[in-house]
Amino acid sequence: MKFTVLTLFPEFVASFKNYSIMGKAVEKGLIHLNTVDIRSYARNKHHNVDDYVYGGGPGMVIQAQPVVEAIEKNRGWSGRVIYLSPRGKTLNQQKVEELAREEHLVLLNGHYEGIDERAMAYVDEEISIGDYVLSGGEVASLVLMDAVARYVPGVLGNEGSTEEESHASGLLEHPQYTRPYDFRGYKVPEILLSGNHKLIQEYRRRESLRVTYERRPDLLEEAALSKKERQYLDSLRDQEA
Ligand code: ADE
Repeated sequence: MKFTVLTLFPEFVASFKNYSIMGKAVEKGLIHLNTVDIRSYARNKHHNVDDYVYGGGPGMVIQAQPVVEAIEKNRGWSGRVIYLSPRGKTLNQQKVEELAREEHLVLLNGHYEGIDERAMAYVDEEISIGDYVLSGGEVASLVLMDAVARYVPGVLGNEGSTEEESHASGLLEHPQYTRPYDFRGYKVPEILLSGNHKLIQEYRRRESLRVTYERRPDLLEEAALSKKERQYLDSLRDQEA
């Protein structure tokens, strides 16, 4: 998987290569993270890329020319160009999995009041990471790359799996425990010590349903559930009533 990030802050984005899962994936050659300074495509001697807003209004807008040239010079033949923006479609796990199947993602980061709308003709899609406004697209790009990288084969190694965690199945993940067995009187649920894998699986699935019911009941509407699981949810509702 290759990420190319078009940004006004290339050093900030490149620092992501030094940490954690992304750092190891880059080191192993599973992920290539390339940063491109949009300013290097400016055609004036001060490398300015922004200008006043047509029609008036506060702030500055990034010009189309350096952005479009940065896209054209760096997308290659396989790049899918994504503009990180609060007006995009909200990122979710399903979208993350879809993006992870791409060969090359080109992530365009805006700043100031945004980018001249005419550059959007060169963008394949706009993605938001949530209903709030950031001061630029860089942090959103890091979020997207982190979430996508976890689906690239070999990246997680022995340190995790994308199968059982929150959102992968449409439900939130069940609680996890490690040693000690007794922490300040709070004990690990006995069933997890039973060694009976089938019972443990069932218990975890029920816990996953319970946590989702308590915290994000909206997710249950879309989740694929068996009849037995629906009955379990009904029993939770009955307990509350
Ligand atoms: N840039 C500014 N706000 C953003 C958001 N919520 N998502 C993605 N990019 C952004």
